[in-house]
Amino acid sequence: MGMHHNPPSEQLGCRGGSWVARWSPRLCRGDPWVARKYDMAVAESHKELTTTKTLSVNNIEVVYNSVILVLRGITVEVAPGAVVSLLGPNGAGKSTTLKAISGLLTAELGEVTRGQILWGEERLNGLSAEDVVRKGLVQVIEGRLLFRHLTVEENLRVGGMVYEGGRHIRADLERVYHYFPALAKLSKRVSGYLSGGEGQMLVIGRAMMAHPQILMLDEPSLGLAPLLVHQIFEIIHEINRQEGVSVLIVEQNARAALELADYAYVMENGRIVLDGPAEQMRENEDIKEFYLGLNQAGGRKNYREVKHYKRRKRWLG
Ligand SMILES: Nc1ncnc2c1ncn2[C@@H]1O[C@H](COP(=O)(O)OP(=O)(O)OP(=O)(O)O)[C@@H](O)[C@H]1O
Ligand SMILES: [Mg+2]
Repeated sequence: MGMHHNPPSEQLGCRGGSWVARWSPRLCRGDPWVARKYDMAVAESHKELTTTKTLSVNNIEVVYNSVILVLRGITVEVAPGAVVSLLGPNGAGKSTTLKAISGLLTAELGEVTRGQILWGEERLNGLSAEDVVRKGLVQVIEGRLLFRHLTVEENLRVGGMVYEGGRHIRADLERVYHYFPALAKLSKRVSGYLSGGEGQMLVIGRAMMAHPQILMLDEPSLGLAPLLVHQIFEIIHEINRQEGVSVLIVEQNARAALELADYAYVMENGRIVLDGPAEQMRENEDIKEFYLGLNQAGGRKNYREVKHYKRRKRWLG
């Protein structure tokens, strides 16, 4: 396969008369030389792309429509390259927290009325969603919103348009196809007919086209079969490690999220009620019972018991 990519910096070298590009996974398989070159390039680009900034949400309060107080002092930190999960039941304020960071609140008549959101030293409060994306904080919006009449690849290209360094669209596409080989096969398909899982891959892929330093995901597991959830979380993990991108992930699927995350916060009623290293959270008895549905012995609880427990106990109050 001849390499058609420009510029030359994306090419790793010449093998048997054909060029091998940095992001051409299909060429990597089965050829040790290509595989090694590829790993080296990934390691190198990791250095290039590693996030060095911490996201700090400091004691923020959010009000909708000037009256409805929804977040009451939320503090969350995402260290460079970390995977942090926000857990909590319906209506806890998880999506609102993400929207406050990504500047999407204004569209819903919401406002951060107290506290600070810092990206490194920079204050994000009050920035437009567009400016936040340009700074490298990219949110995958809940609900898999796609341009339904565009093809998969066209959707990805749209994602790349916000990135001003947008010189290597082709290489960026290959990079997305490397993580999501299923999308490569579907590249010419109209996205309106994608399955739930394919749609989820596409919205994550589209976010990657914007060269995120921190990727924010709102319930990527929603409505997907367990096997598919597992697959998508594996890919998110791989993106985190290989690209050095920080990840902030909102989930109701605590089991999957705690496997992926380094650190987790539990929200309830607009407050953080519990936080800690994911490992510790997995061992926490309350988390086990409330979210993972396990009893003390580690066995599966039946639904009635869990439901009863939910009625009996709220997190800390
Ligand atoms: N645009 C809005 N205007 C007014 N109230 C809102 C708005 N968006 C959300 N809320 C309210 O804010 C609270 C938190 O909502 P949010 O969507 O952040 O919760 P969530 O934790 O993401 O829940 P879920 O798990 O159901 O997605 C809810 O009580 C919700 O009704
Ligand atoms: Mg939500």
